Amino acid sequence: MNICVIGGGYVGLITSVVFSKMGNKVICVEKNIEKIKKLNKGIPTIFEEGLNELLNKSLNSKSILFTDNLKEGVNKSDVIFIAVGTPSTKDGNVDMSQITNVINEISSFINEYKVIVNKSTVPVGSQKYVKKLLIENGVNPKNFDVVSNPEFLREGKAIYDFLHGDRIVIGHDSEKAKDIIKKLYEPFKIVTIFTTPETAELIKYASNAFLSTKISFINEIANLCNKVGADIDTISYALGLDKRISPQFLKPGIGFGGSCFPKDTIGLVKIGERYGSDFKIVKSAIKVNEYQRILPVKVLLDEYKDIKGKIISILGLTFKSETDDIRESPSLYIIEELLKKGAVIKAYDPMASNEIKKLFPDIQYFDNLYDTLLDSSSMIICTDWKEFSNIDLEVVKKKMKNPFIIDGRNVLDIKKVEKNNINYYSIGKGYIK
Ligand code: UGA
Repeated sequence: MNICVIGGGYVGLITSVVFSKMGNKVICVEKNIEKIKKLNKGIPTIFEEGLNELLNKSLNSKSILFTDNLKEGVNKSDVIFIAVGTPSTKDGNVDMSQITNVINEISSFINEYKVIVNKSTVPVGSQKYVKKLLIENGVNPKNFDVVSNPEFLREGKAIYDFLHGDRIVIGHDSEKAKDIIKKLYEPFKIVTIFTTPETAELIKYASNAFLSTKISFINEIANLCNKVGADIDTISYALGLDKRISPQFLKPGIGFGGSCFPKDTIGLVKIGERYGSDFKIVKSAIKVNEYQRILPVKVLLDEYKDIKGKIISILGLTFKSETDDIRESPSLYIIEELLKKGAVIKAYDPMASNEIKKLFPDIQYFDNLYDTLLDSSSMIICTDWKEFSNIDLEVVKKKMKNPFIIDGRNVLDIKKVEKNNINYYSIGKGYIK
């Protein structure tokens, strides 16, 4: 099939390379010329497992093209995926301006039947909105259908998830469009749910809000564990053995970040408000997360009372390991709070994007884990990078002054910590003073 993907960001790029791998001809339309140049040369613009190989295979077989020519992309394609950003506005609503702009731009190019697919995470009612906009722009209703097809890709595992996901969700109001999209996804051999556009749109928010709630729930249990001397890993394991609960997403830590959970939880609350539904549980999950992501600062204040001038090492800046993405990372909130309290920050991450330096230009960044720790009183582990779980505590003791470790992702072996006689705070695995 001939496919156009509008937006060469995270979702658009993965969608493009995977559809091209599955034997389709893909034109990915992107506005950023630098990005287009890089991608056409086979240089990935994001870090994602398997992307480099897949991108270069697609380029070699000429089954993918990156361009800024929207007209060509639309004209040559049967299916048009919209994968542009839908960020949160200041009040937590979803900013639909990029979708609106795309629809306005493509309207005049639609002169024969196309299936337009909303791939971006969009509020309930967006399929209807896109249809309305196309008609208002004078596009003949016979020449298009709009389908909702949310993505369920984890950063770092996006290609795997696209190829082997748990389900594909297609929201449609036309049998013709359904048959085309069905044919497109058939080779994936994944359970496919065909439903109404509103249901599909809500499945995405319900999924992300449910997973976020699960994380906030286990974090509250973990915080209690530290107080009563219980062990969170054993609790998570026991909970997970109950098939109705499942073992996934029961890992405690300093909260969820990234470009999805924070945005989609508040997004769902706002959608609810519009229809008079008060999402009390999701609101609480957000509140718990706001508390959890700066918990290390509270722990430090309990320990030292005043942290003005204290040197604190932040290990891990990305919102999780195996990605360079720092969006909504708990470490950003921790650094902000620590700076407000006058602490001196040293930071290290094996992969974080340079965006971090724009956000915090005045803190010290290091290329090496152990150099970061020199003369620090405390280190906060914010990301579950493997490198951190293998840290040599003997060296840590030599580099730091009377170290206090806050293990925000429970990556350290507590027995080794005890053996080294180090002050240690974990999330539900104990507080060693
Ligand atoms: C998430 C979902 O997992 C995907 O299914 C979804 O498609 C995607 O959002 C999206 O909407 O686009 P992602 O944001 O890449 O994917 O990250 P996750 O691996 O789900 O982790 C999210 C956050 O939760 C991270 O900060 C992670 O550290 C945290 N987390 C996750 C925990 O604290 N505990 C856990 O048990 C699991």
